[in-house]
Amino acid sequence: MPEAVIIIGATSDIARATAMELSQEYDLILVGRNEVELEAIANDLAIRFDCNVTTRPFNARDLSTHQDLISDCFEQAELIAGAIVCHGFLPEQTQAQREWDLAHKTLEVNFTSCVSILEPLMARFEEQQYGFLAVISSVAGDRGRQSNYIYGAAKGGLTTYLQGLRNRGFKSGVHVMTVKPGFVSTAMTVGIVDPKSPLVATPGQVARDIYRGIRKRKNVIYSRWFWRYIMLIIRAIPEWIFKRLGL
Ligand SMILES: NC(=O)c1ccc[n+]([C@@H]2O[C@H](COP(=O)([O-])OP(=O)(O)OC[C@H]3O[C@@H](n4cnc5c(N)ncnc54)[C@H](OP(=O)(O)O)[C@@H]3O)[C@@H](O)[C@H]2O)c1
Repeated sequence: MPEAVIIIGATSDIARATAMELSQEYDLILVGRNEVELEAIANDLAIRFDCNVTTRPFNARDLSTHQDLISDCFEQAELIAGAIVCHGFLPEQTQAQREWDLAHKTLEVNFTSCVSILEPLMARFEEQQYGFLAVISSVAGDRGRQSNYIYGAAKGGLTTYLQGLRNRGFKSGVHVMTVKPGFVSTAMTVGIVDPKSPLVATPGQVARDIYRGIRKRKNVIYSRWFWRYIMLIIRAIPEWIFKRLGL
């Protein structure tokens, strides 16, 4: 009986590519907002990789449903090997500065909802003394910049939360991996990044990094790898210089 992996935010471009990597080894439970799209992805994966794929509806902002959703997923499968959290939302920064609802949505989708879904997931994995969590944060959380600090603050909060969750999970054998992509060519970044730029990854490249990271039980991965060094430099710039830069 193959183990299953839960993919939260499964209609995301990065999640779809990651599902392709995982479906060669695991059954999948795809969780997401767009149920029609989820079904289409599930059918495609089941046919191509001969695996068992089921779907569950999920709205990140409907926090009160998250506990039951996770219970439902764990009742469905014999053994759940891990979960990947992929959902996210990138606002237009200056609009989010003016409109609280947009800023609030950004914080809720990228931070609060992740905590809300990860707490019941961690509790289940602790019970079974086994499992992995791979959660997509962002390089944007490594240092606040004027061009995306509301999104960046939510991702920075998520990164810190995941440090604590990793520390908590260690004694029960539950592994937590933080994924920090740089620029990726997906629906989220259409018109923002140039897909031909060498700095911009494809969802497939990020998915392979995630898959390798899970196998090697990495704590934090940057995708592509060179973002680790770019962010090392960005974090090293003294604040009195950094605040003057138009980043
Ligand atoms: N692309 C980049 O350059 C980049 C860089 C760093 C980090 N990331 C992170 O990577 C992750 C995946 O993003 P992506 O690049 O693959 O973008 P994407 O294709 O736009 O995926 C975003 C996903 O989030 C889901 N989502 C948004 N709001 C939701 C809500 N209220 N309830 C449920 N689902 C919701 C979307 O669902 P629908 O399909 O229903 O809209 C979609 O599946 C995100 O966490 C993002 O912040 C991306």
